[in-house]
Amino acid sequence: MRPERMADTRAWLERVLSDKKTVFFALELRESGEFIGTVSLRNLDFKNRNAELAILIGEPENRGQGLGGEVLSALLDYAFGELGLYRVYLRVLAYNEPAIRLYRRLGFRGEGRLRAQVWREDTWHDVLVFGLLRDEWGTWTSG
Ligand SMILES: CC(C)(COP(=O)(O)OP(=O)(O)OC[C@H]1O[C@@H](n2cnc3c(N)ncnc32)[C@H](O)[C@@H]1OP(=O)(O)O)[C@@H](O)C(=O)NCCC(=O)NCCS
Repeated sequence: MRPERMADTRAWLERVLSDKKTVFFALELRESGEFIGTVSLRNLDFKNRNAELAILIGEPENRGQGLGGEVLSALLDYAFGELGLYRVYLRVLAYNEPAIRLYRRLGFRGEGRLRAQVWREDTWHDVLVFGLLRDEWGTWTSG
């Protein structure tokens, strides 16, 4: 992550909004409407009915209050229900324990480890792949 010029940010936003393989949501606090982060489904593949999930709650003070769980529950309902996906997967740095706990709590299962996938702060980091199938999603009802 690095500072971007406004023009770059606008161009990125336009690209995302017109990309049929991405759905991108802004997260706002219900009470104040404050923008606190984003959640997205990328690489949407309707033939194989899967997509890659990513979530970011920007400020540390907004984390650890159950918001991530609330957001992902709603997103998974949308992905498996409205979009009709069968598999949602994600990649996470192996040291990101809070995120991994949340994914496991929601039912995601570890599917693999990409060794030394990321170079950060002078060292290599592994990346874990997690996936959740529609049949494993607790609140999903087939109607
Ligand atoms: C990862 C991330 C999305 C998690 O979101 P979050 O809002 O912090 O997650 P939650 O609050 O739902 O859950 C985290 C913890 O808060 C706890 N919690 C606190 N209050 C809670 C409440 N009222 N309801 C539910 N859980 C609560 C949960 O039990 C959980 O604790 P645990 O991890 O010890 O089990 C968020 O921390 C984030 O954006 N981090 C930076 C970016 C990032 O790492 N993204 C993921 C990259 S793959």
